[in-house]
Amino acid sequence: MSLSLGTLGIYAQNSGIQSSVKNVEKKVDSVLNLMTLEEKVGQMIQYNGSWDLTGPASETGNKQKEERLKKGLVGSMLNVLSVEATEKAQRMNMENSRIKIPLMFGYDVIHGYKTIFPVPLGETASWDMEAAEESARIAALESVAEGVNWTFSPMIDISRDARWGRIMEGSGEDPYLTSKVAVAKVRGYQGDDLSNPKTIAATAKHFAGYGLAEGGKDYNAVNIGKNELHNVVLPPFKAAADAGVATFMNSFNTIDGIPATGSKSLQREILKDRWDWQGFMVSDWGSIAEMIPHGFARDKIHAAEIAVKAGSDMDMEGGAYEIGLEKLVAEGKVDEALIDDAVKRILRVKFKMGLFEDPYKYIDANLMASVPYEEHKSTARDIAKKSIVLLKNENNLLPIKNSVKNIAVIGPLADDKDSPIGNWRAQGEANSAVSMLEGLKNAVSKETNITYSQGVTLGKGERSFLMPLDINKTDRSGISEAVENAKNAELVIMVLGEDAFQSGEGRSQANIGLAGLQKELLKEIHKVNKNIALVLINGRPMEITWSSENIPAIVEAWQLGTESGNAIADVLLGKYNPSGKLPVSFPRAVGQEPLYYNHKNTGRPYSAEHVTYSHYTDIKDGPLYPFGFGLSYTDFEYGKPKISKTELNAGDSLSLNISVTNSGKVKGREVVQLYLRDLIATSARPVKELKGFKLVELETGETKNVEFTIDEEMLKFYTASEKWQAENGEFELMVGGNSEDVQSIKFNFSK
Ligand code: NOJ
Repeated sequence: MSLSLGTLGIYAQNSGIQSSVKNVEKKVDSVLNLMTLEEKVGQMIQYNGSWDLTGPASETGNKQKEERLKKGLVGSMLNVLSVEATEKAQRMNMENSRIKIPLMFGYDVIHGYKTIFPVPLGETASWDMEAAEESARIAALESVAEGVNWTFSPMIDISRDARWGRIMEGSGEDPYLTSKVAVAKVRGYQGDDLSNPKTIAATAKHFAGYGLAEGGKDYNAVNIGKNELHNVVLPPFKAAADAGVATFMNSFNTIDGIPATGSKSLQREILKDRWDWQGFMVSDWGSIAEMIPHGFARDKIHAAEIAVKAGSDMDMEGGAYEIGLEKLVAEGKVDEALIDDAVKRILRVKFKMGLFEDPYKYIDANLMASVPYEEHKSTARDIAKKSIVLLKNENNLLPIKNSVKNIAVIGPLADDKDSPIGNWRAQGEANSAVSMLEGLKNAVSKETNITYSQGVTLGKGERSFLMPLDINKTDRSGISEAVENAKNAELVIMVLGEDAFQSGEGRSQANIGLAGLQKELLKEIHKVNKNIALVLINGRPMEITWSSENIPAIVEAWQLGTESGNAIADVLLGKYNPSGKLPVSFPRAVGQEPLYYNHKNTGRPYSAEHVTYSHYTDIKDGPLYPFGFGLSYTDFEYGKPKISKTELNAGDSLSLNISVTNSGKVKGREVVQLYLRDLIATSARPVKELKGFKLVELETGETKNVEFTIDEEMLKFYTASEKWQAENGEFELMVGGNSEDVQSIKFNFSK
């Protein structure tokens, strides 16, 4: 049955949305058949809700947007928040337009909506995929409670460069770990059924290569070849596509000279044809028109032509499709079939979300009252504590002993209720986190005396997403009070790191050490009291070499979100035994960046004899803290790894077993990591690559056996013959508690 305009409304009320794929396709075709070219192009346009939708659109641009909304010439909106505003926009569209196709409402819900979870890089340090899924599920629920039904998350760009401000928004340097997070996030946001009004559509972004911006400078060119693209950048996207992510977002960067937004090879050939992915591709903000400054398009119309041919389906606030597409079709430069393909993809997602059944299904004024925000806080605390990484703990300075009764808490971030909320904070309120000082005070006994001094300030004045940050480099007036407090304390807790807006979009830095006067403050305190636990609150890996050489205890506490201070206190006091492991390498010096464990070997990997091998002459080789690293308050002892056989054939598998014992005094949780190296291959392979991990909880004295299964699938990579396949030969398996501290065992594979 093909739908007429009249039946569309009846159909909307009556049809069950749990339709089969075939049914959805029929419905999509029926709607498409009813649409004019103008209406089709309308679906491919996304507007920013830059005006208060609940009031009149006073500026010309906004009036025009409102007019187009009323004509049904907008496919989706972003940044329209609240039940009232989304309802108003949906009504404008549904009640006035001829075609009555519901809008989607997108927003950057990156690490929580109101309840803020650790920034994604921090949360990944938990290596806990249940946690990653749960925080997404909660974010989805809180989003729909305000009418948002689509998030521009997860960001699954591999990044190896701590200078890149957006490294905080992803899962670090490893494709396998990032793929696992991608799947967990898609499941968390979308659930099992996209039409469930407590789920939202997810977006895998940024397709592709954005995280490998040259020099770590945001928006910069990406110069990688096919080998890195297929083996490093694409696997998380493939995982997200296979997990059924509803939408993709392309990226601002050029990749090997071609803007990703205009890349047919990425969008049409790989994603849509080879991977057979059926969702739609939204551009990044204005990225279609940005092909003009890239020197790839002459003007917006030319940019629209390139983008639509390449497979960009929706133009985010870019104005290129709006002025270009109809004209291009009329002139015969763009085949209408391409427009149809894009629109079908958009309609398909809308059908799957159940929007045709009820355009207002995600707009429920009563939902907010039933959202368990308090419960969400306790989940946020649980996830936050699991995300903390203990980097150093000389002489077991931590956890804080009961006998310690005099603590000096010092540093610009100690009582900062804003920085832990991080950038990309959605509707997380400014200054709403539990500060580290508050968390500690909540948790210690009445007899414990805590003094607090800020010492120095970090960012001055007002901060927000778009404002440049003014770092204090001159005001030292608070240092002497901090020094006095430190002199009198048994233990000093220094809380240093980054302002919330030091990382995030457009926040690349050439220096990644402690900014402003923080290092000076730390050194002054260190002169009078060596008993220092340094707590870092930050969005990127930092250069902390001096601290690592001089400060006895270091806790990486990222930007942990709403419950930050409580979670940090849980770890400092030993109520939770830290279990996080780094998802990125920490450098000894910024000059090592990009730095990543899964690098290729070079022809001159190491020599103690002479200088002509691959290294920097002025620093020790390798990271300060490697990928996968993190200490515990207990000790884990690994047995010898054993494999079930040393010859593996296609279609078969072998198992690796290793025992892990908690030989320390408290119970703990260890992330057992499995790495693999393909020793000789048709293209040089990394020195090791993560291929599996298991979280094990161990009581004191307890031993558990951990088993990994190795099969042909695990050995596959993008080979010199441009195929995803395993090659015959010798492989090395490495297993241990971080990427450097591993035991090896070899086997052969043959097909
Ligand atoms: C630009 C960012 O690159 C992208 O990640 C984000 O989703 C959009 N702006 C919308 O805010």
